[in-house]
Amino acid sequence: MTTIGTPGSKTATKVMLLGAGELGKEVVIALQRLGVEVTAVDRYKNAPGQQVAHRARVIDMSDASALRELITSERPDIVVPEIEAIATKTLVELEHEGITKVIPTARAAELTMNREGIRRLAAEELGLATSPYRFAGSLAELRAAIEDSNEPKIGYPCLVKPVMSSSGKGQSRLDGPADIAKAWNHAISGGRVDSSRVIVEGLVKFEYEITLLTVRARGSDGTVGTHFCEPIGHVQVSGDYVESWQPHPMSTKALEESRRIARKVTDALGGTGIFGVELFVAADRVWFSEVSPRPHDTGLVTLTSQHQSEFDLHARAILGLPVDVTLRSPAASAVIYGGMEAEGIVFTGIDKALQVPGSDLRLFGKPASYRRRRMGVALARAADIGTARQNAKLAASRVKPRRG
Ligand SMILES: Nc1ncnc2c1ncn2[C@@H]1O[C@H](COP(=O)(O)OP(=O)(O)O)[C@@H](O)[C@H]1O
Ligand SMILES: [Mg+2]
Repeated sequence: MTTIGTPGSKTATKVMLLGAGELGKEVVIALQRLGVEVTAVDRYKNAPGQQVAHRARVIDMSDASALRELITSERPDIVVPEIEAIATKTLVELEHEGITKVIPTARAAELTMNREGIRRLAAEELGLATSPYRFAGSLAELRAAIEDSNEPKIGYPCLVKPVMSSSGKGQSRLDGPADIAKAWNHAISGGRVDSSRVIVEGLVKFEYEITLLTVRARGSDGTVGTHFCEPIGHVQVSGDYVESWQPHPMSTKALEESRRIARKVTDALGGTGIFGVELFVAADRVWFSEVSPRPHDTGLVTLTSQHQSEFDLHARAILGLPVDVTLRSPAASAVIYGGMEAEGIVFTGIDKALQVPGSDLRLFGKPASYRRRRMGVALARAADIGTARQNAKLAASRVKPRRG
């Protein structure tokens, strides 16, 4: 039986979010609605999630001793990682010492923060289909990895990504040997922390890619069950999501295979919570790409497409509550970028954006704008995904950021 106490009292159910961006902000709101006491942690002040939490803490979450100090002094019942750049070894220790519980598990957070951990688990232990890949720790190793004539061959075109990075940072596409040195330098400067290790992947010729939101949650009998949201289609530009929609139409076989893969990888990671399983699809073939053990950016669409958004689902699952993954309506999301480098920007055209039929808006409240920083998202519900996509993009285009 799950109980929830009263915030601000000694019975409070305390959750600490590590990372308080736009996805964290929605998780905090979902937890607040259930009467949970929330601390939102980020590396800068006034992060979106901190604006709606009971408490805000600013630390470098990749600093092991700062993270240990914060968690042992606040003693949250549950720690919810919302970003990848965390001292995950410390989470493993704290979970082991019984100091807190990590969502979905500390091991899952550790495995998925590094492309090498999750790729080796998926391909080598679970036997899932993935792109051909190799790892390299130097320019010479990278060249050898691409040009190795043993199976699986990489060759050209291929993609180089830092093993520790997200949102397309440090990634490049290589069309021939002349691109190797530039790709290596780009990866080394674009990766997180001081890791000089990359993955190089052969290009998968997919027809479309999806995020399959998969929820591990407790049912009435106390056992953990697996629930699948409808597939989310999306468009990525330079490794960053610009548009998503739900449901993405799929053949029965491809959907079954996608669910089989998602179940296998989320079973292996364990715990409870939502997972964003990224898959490539061509006809009935499905390749595993990567997985986030947390809400996924392309899943922002679920704020309007589902009865319980991915954030509601995550909040319920981590508290041991039942979930409902049913679709409410076809819908789409379109990202609103800052378009400029400035602090305290102003959004105009919001009224015009909200005149688009079935539309809705989220402005994240980020203190600083960069040209390609995601500052908000437009949402639109419609009878079909074609109309929803058109309307979400129209609404997004009407929001015009201006200097303050
Ligand atoms: N091996 C691949 N073949 C084809 N496209 C790929 C491959 N790997 C990545 N991509 C494209 O790049 C996007 C970002 O790559 P991903 O590995 O998901 O990086 P990130 O962790 O930054 O999201 C993917 O959503 C897909 O569109
Ligand atoms: Mg991705």
